[in-house]
Amino acid sequence: MIPIDIQSLARKNVKSLKPYSSARDDFEGTASVFLDANENPFPTDYNRYPDPHQRLLKDVIAQLKNLKSDQLFLGNGSDEAIDLLFRAFCEPGRDRVAIPQPTYGMYAVSAGVNNVKVISTSLTNSFDLDSKVILKSTSPHTKLIFLCSPNNPSGNLLDVKEIEVILKKFPGLVIVDEAYIDFAASASWTTRLDEFQNLVVLQTFSKAWGLAGLRLGMCFANPEIITLLNKIKPPYNINSFTQSEALKSINLGKSEVDRMITAIKYEREALRKHLHEILAVKKVHPSDANFLLVEVTDAKKSYEHLVSKSIIVRNRSMVVLCDNCLRITVGTKEENDLLIQALRLL
Ligand SMILES: Cc1ncc(COP(=O)(O)O)c(C=O)c1O
Repeated sequence: MIPIDIQSLARKNVKSLKPYSSARDDFEGTASVFLDANENPFPTDYNRYPDPHQRLLKDVIAQLKNLKSDQLFLGNGSDEAIDLLFRAFCEPGRDRVAIPQPTYGMYAVSAGVNNVKVISTSLTNSFDLDSKVILKSTSPHTKLIFLCSPNNPSGNLLDVKEIEVILKKFPGLVIVDEAYIDFAASASWTTRLDEFQNLVVLQTFSKAWGLAGLRLGMCFANPEIITLLNKIKPPYNINSFTQSEALKSINLGKSEVDRMITAIKYEREALRKHLHEILAVKKVHPSDANFLLVEVTDAKKSYEHLVSKSIIVRNRSMVVLCDNCLRITVGTKEENDLLIQALRLL
């Protein structure tokens, strides 16, 4: 195992940065008159700024995930955490990120926004991770490796042993994006945070929790990494409505979420079975997520046919290893039935 020094990985200017101090940072405690933040004094539901540190929400999430709240950063979607990881650790114009393709497109977009060079390698033909290939692509300036498990758009979990090898041998941060982990038959990498100083795990309320519109993403890592992200985030990145709605949802208990997960997993396998019966379908890839990657004889034709029936899927044909592939999100039984009926008419 390579010893990791988080401080020496961080950008110099970020280490020396004095973060913005908001009115609510300067005063902690209870008071009855707040004249410190230039807010409007007349009570609407939202006349006050939200808690910039999301203390209540973080405590509840930490408890839910069996972690400590100082191991958790909350972002305006996990997309914000992805961007902040680049800003905290990558020197623009010099540092690099390694990304095995095909995968979620925002890693490369955030790299581009931050002027960080992307070193793309390929997953195997069955979308598996080869640690040797990815490690060979790294150089002393590679600061981050993004791994998505279950992977978008292929749907499969990446091999635990391969990820372990990367975590042990790579002297930078290994980000495992688990946006779809709730649909998978596998433990989360959050259970192994104490083992690996360089492990960062991303999760989101956008998928299994059914709260994509709220924009709430989670980033779990050792407290040194979390402190750096907190230092550079916009002060009020999680708005009051999102904080209170997420709290409400978690306090309701996980049974409703578990019910949705079970239904989606059931529908995923029913949809797989029906897709196999469609003439134009050549292959339905295995999935541990809430979508299926489906190879068809002519993706453009199938896509346009579905659009003409008012059904939108994602055409992933232009993506490496995904020739003639559609990515189909698992919907309700009724939606999936409409999709299958439409495909039967192809
Ligand atoms: C792998 C992966 N990570 C992250 C996200 C974005 O999540 P959020 O809605 O939390 O920004 C997505 C969205 O599709 C995704 O597929």
